[in-house]
Amino acid sequence: MMKLKSASEIDKMHQAGKLLAACHRELRQRIKPGVSTMELNDFVEQFLNKYGATPEQKGYMGYPYATCASVNDVICHGMPTPNKLTDGDIVTIDMVVNLDGWLADSAWSYPVGQINPEAQQLLQVTQEALNQGIGLAKVGNRIGDIAHAIQTFVEGQGYAVVKDFCGHGIGQEMHEDPEVPHFGEPHQGPELEEGMVLTIEPMVNVGTDQLYIDDDGWTARTLDGQLSAQYEHTLAITHEGPVILTSQDIE
Ligand code: MF3
Ligand code: CO
Repeated sequence: MMKLKSASEIDKMHQAGKLLAACHRELRQRIKPGVSTMELNDFVEQFLNKYGATPEQKGYMGYPYATCASVNDVICHGMPTPNKLTDGDIVTIDMVVNLDGWLADSAWSYPVGQINPEAQQLLQVTQEALNQGIGLAKVGNRIGDIAHAIQTFVEGQGYAVVKDFCGHGIGQEMHEDPEVPHFGEPHQGPELEEGMVLTIEPMVNVGTDQLYIDDDGWTARTLDGQLSAQYEHTLAITHEGPVILTSQDIE
């Protein structure tokens, strides 16, 4: 069942989203060679607590950390570790912020030091894939329109989009209806309505879209060991167009 949100509920989610975005902006300054993803995770947890929020991922289905930290060939759901990041790595930090019971969800891929042109292009294409999807998040369009636009763009650039993980509705729970796949046919799936809040979160791979899960039961890696990136926003569907609740642009 889809839970439509009122303007005041969307405003509460926007507050969570603004805090999340501020946290990403702080992370950007801290991500450099020699820093570990566990240090970044601890920073996020302290930052959120300082502002009266909590990391919704911690304890979710037994997941033990405030963030997911996915380095290089890790597609998503990587666990923070004490290993130091190295010059040339890419790392995706994914977090879900709970502020007064309302949630926002955003993942962002970052370069560590100087990255090579292949990695740089992957980040650009993945971010643009998210933007293409957001561009179609309009009242009256269908989920399949978003999905199809992302897949067409990504494959047109010579990359593969991950099929095993989707975006989702979000509200007081992390995962609500509808599911938001990043591949599929146009004009299919649920119609977008004013008051829907959902995530779009394409994961894009340099090589194959196939993956495997580590023994920890969480970490999803590309089968061919090549790079993967992800950008995710939480957005509200309104008659005035999509409102990006986790925008990192200073307003
Ligand atoms: N933010 C994520 C999502 O889009 C990941 C949740 S991972 C978990 O659903 F650790 F919280 F389970
Ligand atoms: Co999500």
